[in-house]
Amino acid sequence: MIGFILAGCQPPRQAGVVSTVKPGAPYSEPHRPQYHFTPPAKWMNDPNGMVFYDGEYHLFYQHHPEGTTWGPMHWGHAVSTDLVRWQHLPIALYPDTHGLIFSGSAVVDWKNTSGFGVGGKPPLVAMFTYHDMAMEKAGKSDLFQTQGLAWSNDRGRTWTKFAGNPVIPNPGLRDFRDTKVIWHEASQQWVMVLAAGDRVRLFTSPNLKAWTQVSEFGSDVAAHGGVWECPDLFPIRIEGTSETRWVLLLSINPGGPNGGSATQYFVGNFNGTTFTLDPEFAKGIGTAGKEPERGVWLDHGRDNYAGVTWSDVPASDGRRLFIGWMSNWDYAQVVPTEVWRSALTVPRALSLHRTPAGLRIFSTPVQELRLLRGETVSLTAQRVTRVLPLRIPKGGSAAVSELDLEFFTSNAAASNLALELSNAAGETYRIGFEARSRRFYSDRTALPKAFSDKFASTVHYAPRIATDSVVRMHIYIDRASIELFADGGATTLTDIVFPSQDFTRMRLVNTGPATRLRYATISALRSIW
Ligand code: FRU
Repeated sequence: MIGFILAGCQPPRQAGVVSTVKPGAPYSEPHRPQYHFTPPAKWMNDPNGMVFYDGEYHLFYQHHPEGTTWGPMHWGHAVSTDLVRWQHLPIALYPDTHGLIFSGSAVVDWKNTSGFGVGGKPPLVAMFTYHDMAMEKAGKSDLFQTQGLAWSNDRGRTWTKFAGNPVIPNPGLRDFRDTKVIWHEASQQWVMVLAAGDRVRLFTSPNLKAWTQVSEFGSDVAAHGGVWECPDLFPIRIEGTSETRWVLLLSINPGGPNGGSATQYFVGNFNGTTFTLDPEFAKGIGTAGKEPERGVWLDHGRDNYAGVTWSDVPASDGRRLFIGWMSNWDYAQVVPTEVWRSALTVPRALSLHRTPAGLRIFSTPVQELRLLRGETVSLTAQRVTRVLPLRIPKGGSAAVSELDLEFFTSNAAASNLALELSNAAGETYRIGFEARSRRFYSDRTALPKAFSDKFASTVHYAPRIATDSVVRMHIYIDRASIELFADGGATTLTDIVFPSQDFTRMRLVNTGPATRLRYATISALRSIW
């Protein structure tokens, strides 16, 4: 975020908000997502410290337990055995004399390199950024961020801060944060990547406690419209081959393709010290400072930020699992929710593909989400001339559902097919595909937006990467969010929405020549709470 100023103001109460979710039940407040992770109460931003250990996916998150706006940061905590249903646990990390607890990561120290393990069991080790408010107030903003660590010997339930903190002092940089630690098998050492203003810095360590800077990357490439934050670095196989590449995820705020916060990525190689771009990827990006200053974006929506991937997912699973913060610093602190603020995206599996545009990451919702499916309504092949109302499955609602659409498109035709969601107040939202410009779009301009002039002034777009004649739109709707996974995850668009009443109606709207629908399914999704 820009400027770490503690804001205490609360939003005004919302008048006249109507909910279709069981009144009085937990998690039934207006706009409360039913299958996305939200904190029980108060503010959340970035997901942190995601690690799989002993059958549990851990999820920590930037949390201000006293307010619904950003404030003194703690690590909130939840666990899940299936990535879908979450159990809230007590706050894991509290601020201490070194500062607030900013974003970071966690690993299983399998070889007990840190010496924190007991009884032959590996410790969980978390590394995070300390942000010292006293130094900030004293004007020492070039020294206020340092890196610290903590460990747990009881499956993440309690944490001990290391007496030698901070383990990495500040080298004189205002922005020096968000440690992501990985075990580098080939060189048998720990590698840390952290964001340092307009670049990342890489460090190595034999034991997680003593770190040496070995390289840096990125000051001269891709998008630099804002500060770099929340990096991640991981190897991944190119689909359909036995070749491996390394991916560097990098969040940037502001400077996203549709304004404000967004996550770009790089594909390359990593030799244990240095990350270098792969020429097959590099043709997609620009040179910093030279127009167009192009990045390659993980998601073209406005609301997928600061996302990183899980550590220690077993090789037998093999997935690279990702989750992001479903908001944007442009308006995150003023969106109209009261009890809590912010949700995370659905967990996604990332994969790397060779496409005509170069090496690209695809994102797909994790298959475990199918656990939530209730009744499904199917539509067979037909022509859509103007409007096709969609039947809501029994026991479901338009506001909490999953859709899968396939239709034929021709690049020359002016075809434009959208899913439209609307409510009894006459508010509408559209997400669709414009064939002529080969772009998906999200239009939330006809939804309430008075809370921020940055929220929905324009329609925004996501380029189509796939080139075949069938367009596939797989969409998750959860009261206050829409996630599009197009063409098998080649294009992703995540947006939050705040209709004054839940959506009750869905239809396809075609504003171009008739479009041939190949099929559509609409599934009810159960609440996880
Ligand atoms: C990203 C971010 C991180 C920082 C955290 C503070 O959203 O600004 O860079 O660690 O949020 O809450």
